[in-house]
Amino acid sequence: MSSHGEAIPMIARRSSGLSGEAHVPGDKSISHRSLILGAMAVGETRVTGLLEGQDVLDTAKAMQAFGAQVEKRGETWHVHGVGVGGFAEPDGVIDCGNSGTGVRLIMGAMATTPISVTFTGDASLNKRPMARVTDPLALFGAQAHGRSGGRLPMTIVGATDPLPVRYATPVPSAQVKSAVLLAGLNAPGETVVIEREATRDHSERMLNGFGASVTTEDTPEGRVITLQGQPELKPQVIVVPRDPSSAAFPVCAAIITEGSDVLVPNIGLNPTRAGLFFTLQEMGADLTFENLREEGGEPVADLRARFSPDLTGIEVPAERAASMIDEYPVLSVVAAFATGKTHMPGVKELRVKESDRIDAMAVGLRANGVAVDEGEDWWTVHGRGHGGVRGGAVTQSHLDHRIAMSFLVMGLATQEPVRVDDGGPIATSFPIFEPLMTGLGADISRES
Ligand code: S3P
Repeated sequence: MSSHGEAIPMIARRSSGLSGEAHVPGDKSISHRSLILGAMAVGETRVTGLLEGQDVLDTAKAMQAFGAQVEKRGETWHVHGVGVGGFAEPDGVIDCGNSGTGVRLIMGAMATTPISVTFTGDASLNKRPMARVTDPLALFGAQAHGRSGGRLPMTIVGATDPLPVRYATPVPSAQVKSAVLLAGLNAPGETVVIEREATRDHSERMLNGFGASVTTEDTPEGRVITLQGQPELKPQVIVVPRDPSSAAFPVCAAIITEGSDVLVPNIGLNPTRAGLFFTLQEMGADLTFENLREEGGEPVADLRARFSPDLTGIEVPAERAASMIDEYPVLSVVAAFATGKTHMPGVKELRVKESDRIDAMAVGLRANGVAVDEGEDWWTVHGRGHGGVRGGAVTQSHLDHRIAMSFLVMGLATQEPVRVDDGGPIATSFPIFEPLMTGLGADISRES
C-alpha cells in the first residue's frame, strides 16, 4: 500500500538513448522551510517553484491548522504568517503523512508556544525515531508524550516560559538542527546548535533571509550555529531552486543507460547537498556542470549526464555522507554497473530514513543479481560492470519514494525488467517522475 491509497505496481525495462531536458521539481527541504518560515513571519510570503509533492502539501495543511493562511493562486503560493509565537492550537491531529522533515520541523516550530499538538503519520513515519528532536525540545521546556521508543502518534505540550538552549547534536541531522533553531525563535536570548559534521544549511540561510540573525562558526568543537531569539520575521519572495536529490534520478539513469545524453537544468550545487555529483565523477561518470553561476547566493549549474560504460567502484569518504545522505540508494544502483567494489562507510543514518535504506536496497539488489555486504553503519556493493546486472526481480519499496525510484532507474539497464511492488510513495517528493522519465525515453510504466 502506498501512503495515500492502493499500491501502484511499476516496471522498468531495458532502455537506450535517454535524451532531452529533465526539469525536476522544486527542492523538498527548501519547500518545507518556505511554508513554515512563511507561517512564522508577519505578513505575506510568496513562493514560486514550490514542490507540490504530498510531503510538502501535508506541511501546507499543517500551517493552515496553526492559523496561517496558505493558498495557491496561479503559479504562486501565498503564505500569510501569524508571527513568531503566534501559532494557534490546531483543532485536530496534525498528520504529516510520510514526512520526517515535516513533522520534526513543525514540532520545533511549535515547541516554544504554549499549545498542545498531537502529531501522527503513515506506517513508515510512525516507526521513525522522534526522541532525537523531543530531547532537545525538552531543554526549552516542551513536553512530549508519545508511544514507546519515542514514536508517533505523539503530543507535544509547548513551553510556556521557554529557555534558550545550547545543544550539541548527537547525530548528523539537519532536521534536528532545524527543529532546535525553529524552537529558538520564540525563546529569549541566544540558542546555539553545535554539529560535529556539517549538514544541509538551508534553515540557517533562510532564517537570515527572513530577517533573523544566525551566525555560523567552524571551531574545533564543530560547527557552532547561533540564533538570536525573538526576532520579527519579515515576509519574503522565494523562488525555490530545483532539487538536487530529485535530479539524481535522471542523472544516474543517463549514466547507466546506453547511448544517453541528458541535460538537467538549474540544479543547486550547495556544498551541503552536492556530494553525489562529485562521487559520480570520481567513479568515472561523464557528468559535467555547464553554465555554472550564482543564484540567490547559491552555486547553480545545468548538469549534463551521458552514458558512462567504464565506471569503477570507489571508497566513498565517510565525511561526505551528510552531503549526499538521500542519494545512497541511487548511488548503489550506479555502483552495481561499475567494475569493482563501492564501499560506503559512515552511513548509520540510512537505517532510520523512510525505510531502513541499507536493508531495502541490499535485499533488492541481491534479488536482482548484485552482491552486497553490510554492517550497521556501512555497506559495499560488488559491481558487475555495464551489461552485467541480471535484474528480473520484484522489489519492495517499503513506503519509501527513493527506494522505488532507485529500482526503476536500475531496470533501465538490467538484462531483465525490474518491478517495484508500489510506486505510490514517489508522489511524496517527485510527483512527475514517471512522465519526466518516459519523456526522456525511459521504458517505465504502471502494471495493472
Ligand atoms: C532533510 C534532512 C535529512 C534528509 C531529508 C531532508 C531536511 O534528514 O534525509 O530528506 O530537509 O532537513 P536528517 O536530518 O534526518 O538527516
